[in-house]
Formats: sequence, structure tokens, C-alpha cells
Amino acid sequence: MRVLGIETSCDETGVAVYETGAGIVWEELYSQIELHRRYGGVVPELASRDHVLRLAPMLSAALAAVPAPDAIAYTAGPGLVGALLVGAAVAEGYAAARNIPVLGINHLEGHLLAPFMTDDAIGFPFVALLVSGGHTLLIEACELGCYRVLGTTLDDAAGEAFDKTATLLGLPYPGGPALARLAAVGRPGRFDLPRPLLDRPGCDFSFSGLKTAVLYAARGMRAGSEEARADLARAFEDAVVETLAVKAARALEATGLATLVVAGGVAANERLRAVLDEMTRARGARAIFPPQRLCTDNGAMIAYAGWRRFAAGECGGAGEVRARWPLDALHPPGPSNG
Ligand code: KG4
Ligand code: ZN
Repeated sequence: MRVLGIETSCDETGVAVYETGAGIVWEELYSQIELHRRYGGVVPELASRDHVLRLAPMLSAALAAVPAPDAIAYTAGPGLVGALLVGAAVAEGYAAARNIPVLGINHLEGHLLAPFMTDDAIGFPFVALLVSGGHTLLIEACELGCYRVLGTTLDDAAGEAFDKTATLLGLPYPGGPALARLAAVGRPGRFDLPRPLLDRPGCDFSFSGLKTAVLYAARGMRAGSEEARADLARAFEDAVVETLAVKAARALEATGLATLVVAGGVAANERLRAVLDEMTRARGARAIFPPQRLCTDNGAMIAYAGWRRFAAGECGGAGEVRARWPLDALHPPGPSNG
């Protein structure tokens, strides 16, 4: 079975084809970063219009390169509604023309399953730490489609905190990777930033206070000192990473599970990867990360999630796009879940 996947939930247009036994046989990704840079963030209307321009040629290229797909999967949410509608309309239209099944995929489930593409040894159940621009979640994944939320952020998402803090430090959009690069040359320990909610039980997060603490520290430091900026970036990264690691350890403890799957854009962060690796090893557990290119948004994870669901008996069917679509509202695959 060959499943074509389409991702258009935010500022990346992704098209990929996943084939039984062969894995990803076609993949193309177009990032709109340049388009949104001058606004310092994603402009939804521009994102939708650009998906319209990019998607049709990308789809044609995929169809010219690989044999016709047997099914099609697209991101149905959560995300920007206008952007999601572009992918949905193209997917539904193509499926109707070819008379093949079509399935709306939850973007977060796509992120969560991404590590399975490159690591055959992962199996359910596991704990997942999903850290992206829009979400910070600790999940107990019992089986495909059965996800229990153990903790979430009360305010900013981890990626959002990276992006906003990067802006405070005068770094270019998108801030997360730029801040990580600056932090890599900073020295630890110079700034003492808070670790929000660590003193409270449970697995919830809060990052907005940390951003404010960075703002005050930045005001207090000598203007223009590159060294101080790097040290502050490092202090911020350390505070976020430590908080994520402590809560992830709590989630492993609470569930008794020994596998931590880390996914979403912030999972590309090198320090986070190193610290979670160390934390899980120390507990006799294992941390699994997708390769960096599969951490941020892409079409491959949607093709794969669709393939998993079709392979498990889901039939597809027309659906709606949803700006919000929590993971714990999903169901295991079945003929009636289209
Ligand atoms: O999963 P993703 O591509 O899009 C969403 O679904 O949100 O995640 C994007 C987020 C952005 O906030 C970006 O700044 C962050 O992931 N990010 C990083 C790194 N690479 C991407 N944050 C920290 N360190 C990185 N290396
Ligand atoms: Zn994403």
C-alpha cells in the first residue's frame, strides 16, 4: 500500500509518499520562513495563499515520480484553519478524482509517530514528550490512537517560549534554532533563571514567567555585550531543558514506562536531546528522538500516520479541518473513524 501525505497546518508545505516495505519513497518540503520573516511570525492569510501556490506543483512532482497512491492522508488539525483547508481541499479533490480513500490526520499524532519511521524497535506503550511551537505535552501513548494527557503547558508552549525569548534577545525569526546556536557558545551559571512549577507536583508546565525573567535580566546587562547575550541564551535553554527533563522523569515514574519518545520542533534541540538521553539512561529507560529533519513539520510524518491507520483497518471518509483537536479526543483506528 502506498499512502500520499500532505501537510499544510502552518508555514511548511509538505508532500510525501510512504510505501509498505519501502518506507518513504518520495518527500518534498517547502518552508515559508522567508515569506514570514519580516513580520516576525507566521501571517495566516499569507501562509494559506502560499500553500495554494506550492501544493499543486509538489503534488504533480510526487505523482510523476512514484506509482499512483492507494490512499491519501492530510493534516486536518490542529493548525491554522485557512492553511489546513488548502491541504484538505487538494486531498479530497484528488481522492474523489481517483476514487481512493482519504483520511484527515491529527498533526500531533503525526509528530508522535515520526520516530517510528526510523526506529523499528519502538512499540506501544510509551511516554511521549511533544514539544513544538504550539504545544507542550506529556502523553501516555497506550496504543495507536489511544493517548492520555499527563501534563500540558498552562501558558506558552516550549517552542513559543524559545521564539519569544529569541525576539527579546534580538535574534532573527525563527527564534528557536537561532537561540540554540547562541546558547551553544554561552557559559552556564551566569544567570539564575526560575524553573517554573518544579516545586509543584504533577507534569504541567509554565513558560511565560521564564520569558519575563529573561526580559529583566536582559535589561540589567550591559547593552551590546555579545558574551552576556550568549550566557543569557544558555541560561534560558538550561531552564527550559531542565524543566522538561524533570517533568518527563515524573511521567515515566507515574506510568512505570521505560520508553520516552520525544517529538515536535523543539526535539531538534541538541541540549534537550543530550539531557533527556542522560536522564533516561540514569533511570534504566530509553529516550527516542526522530532524526532532526523529522522533528519539525513535514509531509512524511503525515503520510506515515495515514499509512499506520489505513494498515490497521481505518477506511477514511470526508472530515472537517479543526483549529483545535486535542490528542486525547482521538480513537484507535477503525472503520467508523473517518
Ligand atoms: O513542530 P514544529 O515545526 O511546528 C509546530 O507544529 O509548532 O515546531 C516549531 C518550533 C518553533 O517554535 C521553533 O522555534 C522550535 O520548534 N525549534 C527549536 C529548535 N528547532 C526548532 N527550538 C529550540 N531549539 C531548536 N534547535
Ligand atoms: Zn508541528
